[in-house]
Amino acid sequence: MALTIKVLTLFPEMVRTVLGTSILGRAAQAGLVVYEVTDIRDFAVDKHRTVDDTPYGGGAGMIMMAPCVVEAVEAVRRDERAPVVLTTPQGARLDEALTLALLAEAQTAGELILVCGHYKGVDERARELVVTREVSIGDYVLSGGELPALVIADALVRRVPGVLHDEDSAATDSFTDRREGGLDCAWYTKPPVYRGLEVPEVLLSGHHAKIEEWRRDQARQRTSERRPELGRTAGTEAGRDARTTSKRTS
Ligand code: ADE
Repeated sequence: MALTIKVLTLFPEMVRTVLGTSILGRAAQAGLVVYEVTDIRDFAVDKHRTVDDTPYGGGAGMIMMAPCVVEAVEAVRRDERAPVVLTTPQGARLDEALTLALLAEAQTAGELILVCGHYKGVDERARELVVTREVSIGDYVLSGGELPALVIADALVRRVPGVLHDEDSAATDSFTDRREGGLDCAWYTKPPVYRGLEVPEVLLSGHHAKIEEWRRDQARQRTSERRPELGRTAGTEAGRDARTTSKRTS
């Protein structure tokens, strides 16, 4: 059965547009995922459709009210096991491992609910009552939770079996097993020389084993230079030779 991703947002059009585009859109067309976008404002409890108010105790900024969030989640949730993710800078930082954990939970329940946080924050009681995970996409503050929710949806949907085709080449992406959890290597396409910068010779050699070795070593070197905290194998002898910048024609 297709996985249903339910997004609760104050900006449904923004979310629908992105979910209908590129690989996210193709996955839905192929029937591998279903998207349902719900306007949180439809669950406001007063006639002005108010979704936020000032914080008790004072302070700057508006707080999203608990009732509209809780009732929106309860209205769309079909399975009690469904992960309910609130996007917030205070959440666990998204990485490939968290993406896969979320996907597994979502597949068990058949659904994932993404709640786009807004304003200064969401009333703590909404978190307590319905949120199962809080997720951040990085240590910076965005104006709303829509972009983070879409980032989570994209990272997750590309890991749904059948979504990516061969041409999407996911097997050697950064953070995959083939890249030992580290970064991907450099890639080149035509032309062979551009503004005096040459494609590394080995890539034009047609020698598949050598090319694979060069790529692996280059990926390791790149990882140790740029993201040493990923803690992967340091560059080998060949890796140190693998160029991270293109050679110039003289
Ligand atoms: N909302 C605002 N900033 C955010 C972030 N960095 N991650 C997730 N949600 C957010």
